[in-house]
Amino acid sequence: MQKLLITGGAGYVGRHLVKFLGKKGFEIMVYDNLITGFPDSLLYGELVVGDLRDEENMSLLLKRWQPDIVIHLASWSGVGESFDEPLEYYQNNVQGSLTLLTCMKKTGVRKLIFSSSASVYGEPEKAMVDEETELSPISPYGKSKVMVEKILEDMKLAGEISYLSLRYFNVAGADEEGLLGEERENDNHLITRCVRTALMKEKKISIFGTDYPTEDGTCVRDYIHVEDLARSHLPALNFLNEGGWGIFNCGSGQGYSVKEVIEMTSRVTGVDIGQEHKERRSGDPPVLVADISSIKEKLGWKPQEGCLERIISSAWNWEQKRMSFINP
Ligand SMILES: NC(=O)c1ccc[n+]([C@@H]2O[C@H](COP(=O)([O-])OP(=O)(O)OC[C@H]3O[C@@H](n4cnc5c(N)ncnc54)[C@H](O)[C@@H]3O)[C@@H](O)[C@H]2O)c1
Repeated sequence: MQKLLITGGAGYVGRHLVKFLGKKGFEIMVYDNLITGFPDSLLYGELVVGDLRDEENMSLLLKRWQPDIVIHLASWSGVGESFDEPLEYYQNNVQGSLTLLTCMKKTGVRKLIFSSSASVYGEPEKAMVDEETELSPISPYGKSKVMVEKILEDMKLAGEISYLSLRYFNVAGADEEGLLGEERENDNHLITRCVRTALMKEKKISIFGTDYPTEDGTCVRDYIHVEDLARSHLPALNFLNEGGWGIFNCGSGQGYSVKEVIEMTSRVTGVDIGQEHKERRSGDPPVLVADISSIKEKLGWKPQEGCLERIISSAWNWEQKRMSFINP
């Protein structure tokens, strides 16, 4: 079985990916500085604690482990936060990736899957974006992802690397077996906020902007179940092994408004979630939904049906379990 190095594997997406690929029999090494990662959540493989930007450490690890493929998730990912700390974001996300690629080149590791993001599209003209849509990221976070994609493209053209960039849309939900889920206390993603608000019944959920040109005035997004997302990495690995490369949107292909997500959360949890309306946030496009024709056609992957309800049910189950650990 192939050997994988997963950077950022102790993070939210990473630990679900480790579980899925570990179950499939891949040999896994995780490299993570645990800034937002949780070591106890790793169900497979071995963990090396270290920073992407530590060239010596990274080179030694690559030389020792000699992975067939690197899956590169390690990054900071707060869109809002990246406006406040742009330098730190470029240092971590771009410089970190450069160090990784330098070490890969030095040690002869040539295949990589990169976790990119829908934020590369910024505020697109059309609601449904395919991979050819012009890139116009707004946040330093989105720009850092575009920069890494460009570096990868140039290295591919120079014959130095083969890669796949997966542009994740809004990843949400939890492991259906209830073993894993979102652990970050300050996670700001809508579905985590919704289920956490449902748990603390007296609280209200903030809606940023209710005057967008959408059916109910709130932003429409594409939510992909974290387990569906993890599954997409298997055909991605196969595609790379067979000589394929390129960039793929990885979403559900369906859009839901903020209000629809809140309503679905109320239905799933049985809690009537209070709302408070706030000003729009800068850089929030009205609609951002993935056209997933390319990944369907070339990788043969598609998300399971009933994505939103499954996402919310799994997140709700996980959050109740998590709270029972925190407040037994
Ligand atoms: N969660 C989403 O909705 C989403 C959407 C689009 C893209 N992504 C991308 O997916 C990837 C994983 O996101 P996530 O939600 O799991 O975030 P996360 O913060 O839970 O995971 C990131 C992991 O990387 C580690 N890390 C960060 N900087 C590091 C460094 N310099 N060296 C070593 N380890 C480092 C963190 O400790 C953490 O374990 C990121 O690249 C993110 O940009 C996520």
